[in-house]
Amino acid sequence: MTSHRIALIPGDGIGQEVVPAALTVLEAVGNRHGVSFTYDEFDWSCRRYLDEGAMMPADGLDQIRGHDAIFLGAVGAPGVPDHVSLWGLLIPIRRQFRQYVNLRPIRVFDGLESPVRRAVAGEVDLVVVRENVEGEYSEIGGRMNRGFPEELAVQEAVFTRAGVTRLVDYGFSLAARRRGYLTSATKSNGIVHTLPFWDELVAERAAEHPEVRWDQEHIDALCAKLVLDPGRFDVIVGSNLFGDILSDLAAAVAGGIGIAPAANLNPERDFPSMFEPVHGSAPDIAGRGIANPIGAIWTAAMMLDHLGHREAALEVESAIAGVLARTSVRTSDLGGTASTTDFTKTLLEFL
Ligand code: NAI
Ligand code: MG
Repeated sequence: MTSHRIALIPGDGIGQEVVPAALTVLEAVGNRHGVSFTYDEFDWSCRRYLDEGAMMPADGLDQIRGHDAIFLGAVGAPGVPDHVSLWGLLIPIRRQFRQYVNLRPIRVFDGLESPVRRAVAGEVDLVVVRENVEGEYSEIGGRMNRGFPEELAVQEAVFTRAGVTRLVDYGFSLAARRRGYLTSATKSNGIVHTLPFWDELVAERAAEHPEVRWDQEHIDALCAKLVLDPGRFDVIVGSNLFGDILSDLAAAVAGGIGIAPAANLNPERDFPSMFEPVHGSAPDIAGRGIANPIGAIWTAAMMLDHLGHREAALEVESAIAGVLARTSVRTSDLGGTASTTDFTKTLLEFL
């Protein structure tokens, strides 16, 4: 029996509903593969912020530094500015634990209708590799002259040789294990310092990965191509902002953000990696038990893979694909009437 100690942060809204669904799946698949999990649960959330003035305690990161992985639902609540929940919890975890790769796979499953006609099941299978600790999401900048007509805001984007190189290398290695094709998201026509630098570094790393075919696209054109011909992409590497936008767009192409998973990886394993679905806390549907658990369950599969249980991870992905292909059980975001627990029960039968 292999045992893993997981830091569990269900968070706010539907985070509280999809995390338990994912845990039942982990337990079931773990039993079949001799893998067990122990969870230390943390109440870090906007609820905690409203009660105690902080999303997590001052020594929060030290409390989870020794865990094998972090599993998070979602944070965000009406009444708490979104930059508070993001910068008070998610960004410190991503940065302090050097989780510089944000991995977001997207597939069109058989049985799921995409809003995009050209997005055909079996053909759309891509991964967005998003830079996760620098780029446009930087702390450098400021505001001046608040309230005066000359009020201004400046925010600097930060691109480092080390930061871009390690991210792009990860993308090329991943592409080499997949279909051998990488697309770099850029905008070096308009953004004339950081993105030409990005382009140069991508070309430099490409030379080290001759087995991977690659090209680059300006972000605006890339968005259009993702909608018009999503099946042509394999691995897409992008900066923090471009990767964030592309992965929501690609998830929508695949049928909705309720199904999209994400991993924040520290590839060197010096620190725990964090696994969280792409979606947020969905306050509009929270508390009704109707959230789609696929994103969280697929995220759990990514955690299994990271912890060395690839077979178990593939079984979970097959179970998701099986329910969608062979039953009509769907949550309401996918046009069905199933509750979160109904869907999860059906998936457990497929496992
Ligand atoms: P959201 O992802 O929470 O919701 C967008 C839309 O998709 C809503 O209509 C929602 O009902 C629907 N949706 C999302 N996940 C779903 C699921 N699993 N099943 C069914 N429907 C689902 O994004 P939004 O509305 O922009 O943000 C809401 C809150 O979540 C904000 O406070 C935001 O800051 C936070 N957020 C947190 C994230 C995180 O914790 N990583 C990521 C994105 C947003
Ligand atoms: Mg996002």
